[in-house]
Amino acid sequence: EGRLIVAIDGPSGTGKSSVSKEVARRLGIGYLDTGAMYRAVAWWAQHEGIDLSDQPAVAQAAETIPLVMGTNPDDPRVSVDDIAIDRQIRTSEISEMVSAVATNLAVRSTMKKRQRRLINEIAEATGGVVAEGRDITTVVAPFADARILMTASEEVRMGRRSKELAVDAEATRAQIVERDAKDSTVAQFLTAADGVVTVDTSDLDFEQSVAAVLGAIEAST
Ligand code: C5P
Repeated sequence: EGRLIVAIDGPSGTGKSSVSKEVARRLGIGYLDTGAMYRAVAWWAQHEGIDLSDQPAVAQAAETIPLVMGTNPDDPRVSVDDIAIDRQIRTSEISEMVSAVATNLAVRSTMKKRQRRLINEIAEATGGVVAEGRDITTVVAPFADARILMTASEEVRMGRRSKELAVDAEATRAQIVERDAKDSTVAQFLTAADGVVTVDTSDLDFEQSVAAVLGAIEAST
């Protein structure tokens, strides 16, 4: 019926976000960055003075946050109460806090509902959506038309991420390894689930990665 739902999961540093945005652009459909939603909840909790170890309070914040997700791949703006928070949610402070939010199971249950609703709304409005994260292929949208796990060797991921952040490579490595380890206690994104196609981008540049994902979508639909 002309609605294409693409789910892409994978660990940090694969280039998942840039590739997902470009794929959405080429297909002329919407985009959803679910990691940005967890980051926004972490930012909001901090902004509201909520202690991340107070799990019920953080869960409540995830329910009530006035979050608006931009879905245009050219400008996927994230705002809370009409305030753009794109820069604020990408700091290393938020990256360090976000797993504490993401391992809160009540938060995950709220996020699953919000994300599933958004995926359907975006697909309805734009003819499709590329939604990326850690549990989109398995939990949020296992019904997706194409389900892809984007991977890359640890060495390549560390390289891509430190280039992106232009900070100390060793600190970046430690932070990423720790975040992936924490995140993988609640989401399964290190190996492909049944029916999920793995796209290994270790030896691919950006253009080749986009082509490989487009190929995997074509093969799945
Ligand atoms: O993709 P990104 O690095 O921005 O994601 C930030 C964090 O959000 C992850 O480290 C993880 O804790 C959480 N996340 C999640 N499930 C998703 C997407 C992101 O738990 N589907």
